[in-house]
Amino acid sequence: MSVILQAEKLCRYYRRGSETVKALQELDLTLHKGQIISIVGRSGSGKTTLLNQVGCLDTPTSGRLIIAGTDVTALKEKELEHFRRNHIGFIFQLFYLIPTINVLENVELPLVFARRHNRQKVLEVLELVGLAGKEKLLPKQLSGGDMQRVAIARALINNPKILLADEPTGRLEKEEKAPIMDLFQQLTKEGLAIIIATHDLAQARYGERILELKDGRIIAEHSPETIVRLRG
Ligand SMILES: Nc1ncnc2c1ncn2[C@@H]1O[C@H](COP(=O)(O)OP(=O)(O)OP(=O)(O)O)[C@@H](O)[C@H]1O
Ligand SMILES: [Mg+2]
Repeated sequence: MSVILQAEKLCRYYRRGSETVKALQELDLTLHKGQIISIVGRSGSGKTTLLNQVGCLDTPTSGRLIIAGTDVTALKEKELEHFRRNHIGFIFQLFYLIPTINVLENVELPLVFARRHNRQKVLEVLELVGLAGKEKLLPKQLSGGDMQRVAIARALINNPKILLADEPTGRLEKEEKAPIMDLFQQLTKEGLAIIIATHDLAQARYGERILELKDGRIIAEHSPETIVRLRG
């Protein structure tokens, strides 16, 4: 299968006073089209740092990152922003929906900002994530699971090739988690590649590969079968 993302010896160091925090250390990662990779590890192990790096929200201290054939480490800030908008979708634990506008308008927002209005596309994406018929509802009228579906729809509206999800089920009720993970799996059938950072080993199982981070390094790789035996 074709490679969509390749990280080579990716490093991100933060300065904290006189100290240097090595949040990512020489990390190598290959992500293929249609693949889900789960990232697990304790708090502070570097999961969010990794997503921010591969999502082009932050630039690495060193290393190389190639996404869809482009070396993004060579891009200037404006180019990077443009690249990110066209290639990457983000989902977070907190859904970051705008409470005063309805479901359809929340999903449409990235298109409005880009002046690329396309109502048909919004309706298609809402249908894809299972929100058909809920277009006119406000976020507060939705379950947590549906709020996350809105955030997923909004992340997909620009047809990204990669979806990055940081603790996507962290704020959901127990019974809401599996349907969201099932949705991720369904989305990969169209070729979307997904990286999910999670504390929740039951959710990590949805990854074809499960990488465990510690101190910014991959210290182990688990299979969906063995991961449930680990403690979180
Ligand atoms: N902006 C920053 N400035 C300084 N240090 C940072 C910054 N962001 C993260 N760090 C440090 O980098 C390390 C990795 O943090 P990161 O947020 O990536 O961990 P995480 O695995 O996502 O943790 P959690 O499970 O709590 O979300 C931690 O030691 C953290 O304190
Ligand atoms: Mg984090």
